[in-house]
Amino acid sequence: MTNNAHQGATGNGALSGAAHGRAVLAERLADPELLDQAVEIRLGEDGIDGTCLAVPVGGRRVAGRVSVAGWIQARQVLQALAGKPGFPYLRDDSHGNEIDDPCHIAWGLHTGIRDDHGRRMAQMLGYHPAGVNAYVTEQTWRDARVPVTPLPERELSAPAGGRVYDVLLGGRDNYLSDQRLVASLTEHDRQTLKVAAAINRAHQPAIVETLAARGIDQYLDLGCGHPSSDALPMDDAPSYAALHELVAQYRGGTARTVYVDHDTFIFGKVRHRLEDDPRRPEWVSADIRYMRQFLTSGRVQYLLDFSRPVGVLLHDVLPWIDSDGIVAQAMAVLRERLAPGSALSITHAADFGEDNAMSRFVNPFRAAGLAFTPRNAHTIGKLFGNWPLEKPGLVPTHRWHPEHPHAAREFHDAGAIAALAFKPETGRA
Ligand SMILES: C[S@@+](CC[C@H](N)C(=O)[O-])C[C@H]1O[C@@H](n2cnc3c(N)ncnc32)[C@H](O)[C@@H]1O
Repeated sequence: MTNNAHQGATGNGALSGAAHGRAVLAERLADPELLDQAVEIRLGEDGIDGTCLAVPVGGRRVAGRVSVAGWIQARQVLQALAGKPGFPYLRDDSHGNEIDDPCHIAWGLHTGIRDDHGRRMAQMLGYHPAGVNAYVTEQTWRDARVPVTPLPERELSAPAGGRVYDVLLGGRDNYLSDQRLVASLTEHDRQTLKVAAAINRAHQPAIVETLAARGIDQYLDLGCGHPSSDALPMDDAPSYAALHELVAQYRGGTARTVYVDHDTFIFGKVRHRLEDDPRRPEWVSADIRYMRQFLTSGRVQYLLDFSRPVGVLLHDVLPWIDSDGIVAQAMAVLRERLAPGSALSITHAADFGEDNAMSRFVNPFRAAGLAFTPRNAHTIGKLFGNWPLEKPGLVPTHRWHPEHPHAAREFHDAGAIAALAFKPETGRA
């Protein structure tokens, strides 16, 4: 199989294996000298499934990819190319793949550039709209590098949950549409949400400290939002460290952090911020409603070892999925997939009887296209299946740990419930 093309080249022509791949590539590459730098990857045990050639980004070349026959081969490709110069933004571009489905490992500029999603990604990466259009219409893997300019404007028509949250935290990673939604609320409601967001964000260090003390060295942040927000902390809170910074603090530099979000704008920012970070955090763009596909994708398989405990954070992400059935199903798949000793940490917008402020945000948020869905303690508790909850159980987020910086605030100020559980050694998920 060759990069740069969807078609395989594993020995069907007069030339065999890698030689055929090289011949195909030589015809396609605008920079044939890159062929000399091609990485040859043997697939399958002892290379019995064939060979693929991966050509680095360089010269006028801005992207590349290989197609392989399933996520085990995909993992081999990822392992061979990870960290090598010339293979930036290495990723698994397969969607919803089962173990034997075709997989696509890509690098360089986003490869889905033909569609709107790709167009937005290119803009996110800083390509001028004219350059993006040129790229989209030519649609070649070998075209000239397009001009790079900053994004001309930051107004996007619809608000998004992660960016609204960033406005509430006082961050700069948001757009006018997000700011307008927050501005449309009364001063009292804005304050209510700001306090709730700050309480949620300040919960993370206690969780990392607890999981690290239990020996967990793999962390999966589902619905991560902006991990290292520019946000200013509220009066009585310390600054908001990003998860991978906390993980490095408690577990050292070799522990792994994987950030996941489905918002392409957040994803572009995350990538931009983290790619040079010495602690080497990783990130995956995925919709966690499709949990099974996500967990079996080649990239996730490559990044995390599911035979060992993983600490999974689902902080304020499930309220943004309105179907109770989808949430329950995704959590069941996740619990089943994780090894004993793994942890689930959830924070979730919740009803607190008369004092609850959250339910009054459902309508304005839904009118703005955000599926905001607070749930009650009983429903949130069921998300842990039969895993026993750590003390103090299901409580308002700022009451989970006595040293929470907002612990002195009113019971209902969190507007959310937090809980933590570890998967037992035996028993069902
Ligand atoms: C309020 S932010 C929470 C950020 C972070 N977890 C925290 O606690 O600070 C919610 C994030 O979940 C993401 N999200 C919502 N639905 C999602 C889904 N189905 N799959 C992946 N991410 C999702 C949003 O894009 C947003 O960034």
